[in-house]
Amino acid sequence: MRLVRSIASMQRLSKGWQRRGLQVGLVPTMGFLHAGHLSLVRRASRLAGSRGKVVVSIYVNPTQFGPREDFSSYPRDLSRDLRLCRAEKVDAVFAPRDVEMYPGDRAGGFSTYVEEGRLSGGMEGASRPTHFRGVATVVAKLFNIVRPTVAVFGAKDYQQATIVKRMVRDLNFPLEIKVAPIYREPDGLAMSSRNRYLKGRARLQATVLWRAIERVRAAVGRNSRALPAPALKRAVKRMVEREPGARLDYVEFFDAETLEPASRVAHGTHMALAVFIGKTRLIDNSRL
Ligand code: PAJ
Repeated sequence: MRLVRSIASMQRLSKGWQRRGLQVGLVPTMGFLHAGHLSLVRRASRLAGSRGKVVVSIYVNPTQFGPREDFSSYPRDLSRDLRLCRAEKVDAVFAPRDVEMYPGDRAGGFSTYVEEGRLSGGMEGASRPTHFRGVATVVAKLFNIVRPTVAVFGAKDYQQATIVKRMVRDLNFPLEIKVAPIYREPDGLAMSSRNRYLKGRARLQATVLWRAIERVRAAVGRNSRALPAPALKRAVKRMVEREPGARLDYVEFFDAETLEPASRVAHGTHMALAVFIGKTRLIDNSRL
């Protein structure tokens, strides 16, 4: 496995693969890898095939964090990540440095961003106004550097995956996007690098996201008619805020393709929510 730290060497490597006509699967991550990330790596390996190559990018992208968010405290452990990638037979880990990804003024600066204009406004975009501009920009850069034939994203970040698919379509990036299912702990908590912030009681409370989804799913299953979204939202808020130290950031019901909010909720409607457990912000979603 190669550890690639510079943009030029990653481009050289991928050019060589391209010349040989190899499939290249990319899994973009911010590191501190867990089983959810590794499930994407396996998917990418299968998609690339036995002759193909798999690249995992590890980069905590500063432009997708807001000024008061956890960029500096975001967990990082490159040597552990490299061990995990080696065990998965990853061909290359691309871990670029900030100065090269976003050169400061001395190196000429950085001033071009990618903004998706329709799917980015609600949910995560409403709570984190510059988040998706940062995500779309870094993902576009990674696609141009690694030149994958396929890239795998997780349904854990459903809105993100939908925006990346739209960007690829709108800007004609020559690759395919695949979305892999959410990988969960046995008690339903979606795996996340941020789960490591959860200690003791907070870890138990964190299951409220999945419990809320299951509660709504059961209500939808019991009713042959669609349920009004506002009443469901109030019920979810009550349920979340019964947990001491938990606060609902948002819960939304929406169309799985357009992300348009739904006023009535039925089988097939998508649900997403964000909850603060103390200072830790967690997200989850599911098709109902
Ligand atoms: P990160 O949070 O590290 O997640 C990397 C990828 O793993 C994303 O596609 C995410 O949806 C997926 N993932 C995370 N937890 C998962 C789980 N429990 N099950 C399945 N997939 C999961 O998302 C990002 O990084 C960044 O925004 C990035 C796309 C790398 C751009 O900086």
